[in-house]
Amino acid sequence: MKALVLAGGSGTRLRPISYTMPKQLVPVANRPVLEYALENVRELGATDVGIIVGDWAREIAAVVGDGSRFGLRTRYIRQERPLGLAHCIRLARSFLGDDDFVLYLGDVMLHGDVRPLADDFLRRRPAAQLVVARAADPRSFGVVETDADGAVRRMVEKPEEPRSDMVATGVYFFTPAVHEAVAAIGPGARGELEVTDAVQWLVDRGLPVGVCEFGGYWKDTGRAEDVLECNRRLLHGVRTRIAGEVDPDSELVGPVVVERGARVVRSRVEGPAVIGAGTVVADSRVGPYTSIGENCTLRASEVSDSVVFAAASIRAVAGLHGSLIGRGACVAPGGRDGARHRLVVGDHARVEIAA
Ligand code: DAU
Repeated sequence: MKALVLAGGSGTRLRPISYTMPKQLVPVANRPVLEYALENVRELGATDVGIIVGDWAREIAAVVGDGSRFGLRTRYIRQERPLGLAHCIRLARSFLGDDDFVLYLGDVMLHGDVRPLADDFLRRRPAAQLVVARAADPRSFGVVETDADGAVRRMVEKPEEPRSDMVATGVYFFTPAVHEAVAAIGPGARGELEVTDAVQWLVDRGLPVGVCEFGGYWKDTGRAEDVLECNRRLLHGVRTRIAGEVDPDSELVGPVVVERGARVVRSRVEGPAVIGAGTVVADSRVGPYTSIGENCTLRASEVSDSVVFAAASIRAVAGLHGSLIGRGACVAPGGRDGARHRLVVGDHARVEIAA
């Protein structure tokens, strides 16, 4: 079985972060979401992986390389514009050949044992099999309706009035039957070639389409709140590992990772938390549920339930909570020229300050 991993698209829901990096590289517990996806792809039994890339091709390739780090062989397939998930399958036609494959969206997190999903598909081998989960609010997903035997009867992309709480997680198994479907469909309501419509095309022609419910944790990391929730969940599993320095005046409580070259000075870090390589935390309180990326500086500050990206700096700020701080961003008090707050904030940024 091959794999097709989607790492193109525009990431508008994750602005302003996605202005300067692809959403698939957003760090969760200090690792890009895409790395978790590639590890799962390997677990599912695929080794030949096509990666769809758009404008961020160079950044994606810098992280994934030839795939050998994940036990994979990667091939990059360029998509000039984000024309839809089914468009990605069209573009990968020659790479996929007549093999079965798993389509895996590069910004979804599946945490837990994924192997039963592949086993189930290979045992039954319907034309398509959707990995599904239950969603409290299914309106932002592909909604799946099945009959009493669990066969898919209807699939609708982001319906306003969902008729089921069963949704597509972003992992799909396909036989080569899907190629006729993606060639036959036209653009859907949002102007994209939807994989949802390709699945419905198969159903309408009487081809078997099944579902398999994922038993672990699943999250689409499309919005800031989702990244934070995912970060909390993944940090849950960290075990204490101290490769950097922690001075005697500091206190670590619960599971904390301090990476190589990081220094914790006169600070309290409450786990679960990770402190990235080369980062300095001084006179501060960090955690719980906080990831601090590489080469950051935190001085005299308090940060909890947050994701701080690489090279950011935070100085003399108390009570920072539930925040995403982008790469190289600087957060510090105002006070110059009599101003209480001075902001240099990029397009579509969101700032919530104490009144
Ligand atoms: O998260 C699961 C949902 O993913 C499913 O329930 C939906 O049925 C499915 O359509 C998809 O919806 P999203 O709105 O979340 O898709 P998004 O546009 O975010 O794209 C998903 C991934 O595919 C993302 O990593 C970007 C990449 N992509 C997307 C498009 C449209 C591409 O590589 N090329 C594209 O043309």
